[in-house]
Amino acid sequence: MSYKLVTLGGDGTGPEVMREGLRVLHAISAKLELAWDVDDIPCGGQYYLQHGDRDWPEGAEARCDAADLILLGAVGWPSPTGSGPVLMKDGKMAGFSPVLGNRTRLNLYANVRPVKLYEGVQHRIHGANKQVWQPGLVDMVMIRENTEGLYTPAGGKLSPGGRTEVAIDTRVITRRASEQVIRHAFELCRRRNKGAPKDGKLRVTAVVKDNVLHGCQLFAKIFFEIGAEYPEIEKDTAIVDAFTQWLINQPEYYDVVVTTNMFGDIVTDLASVLQGGMGMAVGANVGAKHGMFEPIHGSAPKHAGKDKVNPIAMVLAVKEGLEWLGQQRGDARLGRGAQAIEAAVVELLKAGAPLTYDLVGEAKAAKCSEVGQWLASAAVRLLG
Ligand code: IPM
Ligand code: MG
Repeated sequence: MSYKLVTLGGDGTGPEVMREGLRVLHAISAKLELAWDVDDIPCGGQYYLQHGDRDWPEGAEARCDAADLILLGAVGWPSPTGSGPVLMKDGKMAGFSPVLGNRTRLNLYANVRPVKLYEGVQHRIHGANKQVWQPGLVDMVMIRENTEGLYTPAGGKLSPGGRTEVAIDTRVITRRASEQVIRHAFELCRRRNKGAPKDGKLRVTAVVKDNVLHGCQLFAKIFFEIGAEYPEIEKDTAIVDAFTQWLINQPEYYDVVVTTNMFGDIVTDLASVLQGGMGMAVGANVGAKHGMFEPIHGSAPKHAGKDKVNPIAMVLAVKEGLEWLGQQRGDARLGRGAQAIEAAVVELLKAGAPLTYDLVGEAKAAKCSEVGQWLASAAVRLLG
């Protein structure tokens, strides 16, 4: 029996990191006797520029719906005619369908983003690399609502006479989506059973702006309603603006963090700095039945085709995907594979080479593919 895997490499460096993620996946799969039926779907801004009307092929939705596991690289490509990304006729970013389309169509209501600083990771700051935050004191999971909020298509532009005069984005917060994601956060906190690095307490923090926004007041209310079912977990709320400074100066206080869509988009990029940058940060888009796993970084057009960017986030996305699918299907091989991948990453970061420019600077930088090859053989070796 083989698992159906959809790969969505996307734009720019997306396919490059995907290649390394798949290299690691195929290497361990041979050892674990795991078979994959891989369906690669081209998508994104570059696809749209070549094909003119869609950002992925006709029928791609059904192929994703049928997948056991989806892996996504990155989407988004600069518009050849001006500033900003390639937009489609309907005004959406080309690359919308595989990312935001899949998130909503498959009801991948939780975007789970682990923020963990591994030993050996140097932070890139003031153009140089040095360790700023301490491993062991940065180990939280951020969960972002993934289907509504400011990303709801309830809005638009008014362009009388062809000139846009008004643009409206409506932030929609529903009880249903809030309940789903908040419950997911409490369940994860319980299952993880780690607590915050600072005091070992199981804690879920809801990040809101409930001093101003109606939606956040509802979100916070539901947070405490659902939280009452988890008496062993501390319930904490933080106002998003204040939260951004606490995240940086006392990350050890956080265990599991849950927030609405747009806040989550922003604070997870900020949090990636604690983990060594966007090249280290993973997003697991999960719902009850489907899962799509991705590095949270973009397509980095300026680095495309140079075999340069850090594939570790993509490799860790494969790890998260295997862990999730293993739990879904009760297949222990997948869990073993996930553990071996993480152990390989830990070993590489401790060894300090080969690593890409973002972690060690240009002078000592290895290529993206060198990192992938190293991780693939280490993961196989660690499987024993
Ligand atoms: C992310 C990305 C996407 C988002 C973009 C590509 C639409 O920034 O996954 O965080 O905003 O969700
Ligand atoms: Mg983002």
